[in-house]
Amino acid sequence: MFKLTNKRIILGVTGGIAAYKSAELVRRLQDQGAQVRVVMTPGAEEFVRPLTMQALSGHPVFTGLLDEKAEAGMGHIELAKWGDLLLIAPASADFIANMVHGRADSLLGAIYLATPALVSVAPAMNHEMWKHPATSDNVDTLRDRQVHVIGPDSGIQACGDIGPGRMVGPEIIVDQISEFFKTGELQGIHVVITAGPTREALDPVRYVSNYSSGKMGYAIASAAIDAGALVTLISGPVNLIEPEGCKFLSVVSAEEMLSAVLEVSESAHIFIGAAAVSDYKIESVSEEKIKSNDETLTLTLRKSPDIIQSVAKKYEQLFVVGFAAESNNLEGYAKEKLEKKGLDAIIANDISRSDIGFNSDSNEVSWIDKNSSLIFSKRSKTQLARDIIQQILKSFHHNR
Ligand code: PMT
Repeated sequence: MFKLTNKRIILGVTGGIAAYKSAELVRRLQDQGAQVRVVMTPGAEEFVRPLTMQALSGHPVFTGLLDEKAEAGMGHIELAKWGDLLLIAPASADFIANMVHGRADSLLGAIYLATPALVSVAPAMNHEMWKHPATSDNVDTLRDRQVHVIGPDSGIQACGDIGPGRMVGPEIIVDQISEFFKTGELQGIHVVITAGPTREALDPVRYVSNYSSGKMGYAIASAAIDAGALVTLISGPVNLIEPEGCKFLSVVSAEEMLSAVLEVSESAHIFIGAAAVSDYKIESVSEEKIKSNDETLTLTLRKSPDIIQSVAKKYEQLFVVGFAAESNNLEGYAKEKLEKKGLDAIIANDISRSDIGFNSDSNEVSWIDKNSSLIFSKRSKTQLARDIIQQILKSFHHNR
């Protein structure tokens, strides 16, 4: 069971003897399903070699603000936007002071200022430094700015002194950060979510499908779980780990997805259709493998059931949110689907762009309901999912 499935964590390592614990921390974060990118300050490099962190994280380590090669790969602003959480562990007294003053003279300082992600620090320093009023004031300032402070622990320090200032252990850090993602706002609410593609068989070995990876729907399921909802995730075939803490139903075809949806939605409050359901299925599926002797092959396709329209019609208590995959006239076509399918809201994404939508890690969408429309600019699907849950929460309570 994983606590941080698909969460993207930027691990900032600053200069201090506790930097050696960050190597272990990378592993513990990955064990819980997180994707990790490491940023090291010049001070941190004196204690741990970037190569160690690179080998453990499986990705190049970011060190310099003016590193042309690194900027050509993933620039520091892009990296700042990539993360769901910036975790600075260990955070030295000096770096904490730099954060308070908004100094961007290191790559990590610049990322801290540029990131929209949650921020957490695990301080590590000599106990006298920790107790100094300057440090106490700085830590209070960070707390006021919604930075989560983890620890420090008390005990024997590297210098031989005894007192508070040791960085807490990697396992405790992992436990605490997994709590940050939980908001509890959907407590007692049952949310049904569809995700991924459906497959419509042609014969025993071939099928018609699409490029949906399931990332959007799975991110929404995780965000709903974090918000305390009772979640049922109904998924077509994808290569993702199912989020911890939900009822998970695996389906293949549109017909199977429809049966699962109708069965579980009677007691549900919210339905979110993020799946890319095949609009057509093969009229008569061949029991034998279709021979490839002929130059052309004609197949007759028949319309699949419209899952979201069926569920909206059958269960009037449901707050139903669809997705619209459009390549032009985004808002116009999305509004038509909103009305035709009887939805409460629709989320339109532009599938003509290769950087968002199908099978990408980011998305940019328009939220359209009966009274309003708003745009969520490009961001990670994890972040977008959290924003969508917040938006659904507002509209759902408004409509009750
Ligand atoms: O899975 P990813 O790679 O992360 O990509 C995410 C996504 C692009 C697939 C997702 O964001 C998205 O747009 N999902 C809906 C895709 C789609 O089928 O759009 P549509 O415009 O054809 O359908 C509109 C709505 O009707 C959708 O909520 C869809 O689930 C639903 N539908 C469609 C056909 C059908 N037979 N039954 C349905 O319920």
